[in-house]
Amino acid sequence: MLAQVDPFYAISISRLAHELKAQGRSVIHMEFGQPSTGAPRAAIERAHEVLDIDPGGYWESVALKTRLAKHYLDSYGVKVEPEQFILMCGASPALTLALSSTFAAGDRIALARPGYVAYRNTLRALHLTPVEIPCGPESRFQLTAASIAALDPAPQGVIVASPANPTGTIIVPSELAAIAQVCRERNITIISDEIYHGLSYVGPARSMLEFEPNARIVNSFSKYFSMVGWRLGWLLVPMEHQPRARAFMGNLFLTAPTLSQHAGLVALDCRDELEGYVATYARNRQLLLEALPKLGLNSIAPPDGAFYIYANIGHLTDDSISFCQSLLRDTGVATAPGVDFDPVEGHRYMRFSFAVSTAEVEDAIERITPWFARQS
Ligand SMILES: Cc1ncc(COP(=O)(O)O)c(C=O)c1O
Repeated sequence: MLAQVDPFYAISISRLAHELKAQGRSVIHMEFGQPSTGAPRAAIERAHEVLDIDPGGYWESVALKTRLAKHYLDSYGVKVEPEQFILMCGASPALTLALSSTFAAGDRIALARPGYVAYRNTLRALHLTPVEIPCGPESRFQLTAASIAALDPAPQGVIVASPANPTGTIIVPSELAAIAQVCRERNITIISDEIYHGLSYVGPARSMLEFEPNARIVNSFSKYFSMVGWRLGWLLVPMEHQPRARAFMGNLFLTAPTLSQHAGLVALDCRDELEGYVATYARNRQLLLEALPKLGLNSIAPPDGAFYIYANIGHLTDDSISFCQSLLRDTGVATAPGVDFDPVEGHRYMRFSFAVSTAEVEDAIERITPWFARQS
């Protein structure tokens, strides 16, 4: 049977945004979660150097895997071996690799709803069965150990994301430990998407690896490291799973881009520059948290991390796609409709990405304030 994969509606909003721009309109892009800052300066300088001296063959950088192992020791106090890292072309293929090398067709994989659109669709494309757990304000839109324990029968896997997309909410360490425990007891393999680590406003996010050494960890240079287009990420697997995952990697993807691996190694030591970007996001987050309630958007998921605000607009619409299209046409502010993240409740939600400049956030607030006043 052919897999049913849904479109990403934010892409159609973005297409409209670009059409408006081509007509001479001024557009503020808050529809995608992508930093506009570019790679750290020293990483770009390294890439320039490498272009002249490296022919760029199939390659996996041992230096980068060794540096990543140090990163896990420094950031989480967890000792891992460099061979446990599989360098990937971003978190998206890392997720595909984790799922395809761990589960069999038909396996049931639990995940939070709302959640990142690609989880549901990647599962379907791989002929796995998504088991969506509705997560509302009472659990801060996150999975809990109790919600996983209540699944009957137990799924074979669960995707955990903290900080999450679209909400930015973080699972507290005691709950991560409880999730790890219930998954151990029920023989559920954890895939932990940690792509938003480093982007946290309530203290550092903890890795699932601290609680479950058997978890598969997905991460990337796209968000904190501001290197979206470099297509570089990693999958961290237990040592015994590594030969199997590596066999899948070699056949499905071969290697990550050579130039990006060189640049990524340098980026890991560009903390000052990257922390400057986090400070900008923190300012943007604060501005939106002050402004949105004044527009009547009072029901907002607590944005602990990432660069998103997921807001309930149920008092204004039950069609988030048309709502975001009208907002864009009338004000030039592009946002993502909630249906991308939640096919059941998402028609009453929208997501703002604040991975833009503070000036753009200020401009966006000025533009949308009179527009929202007209809606109620
Ligand atoms: C939660 C989550 N996981 C994975 C990805 C994919 O990121 P990458 O650019 O590393 O493929 C995204 C992108 O927005 C995301 O939000």
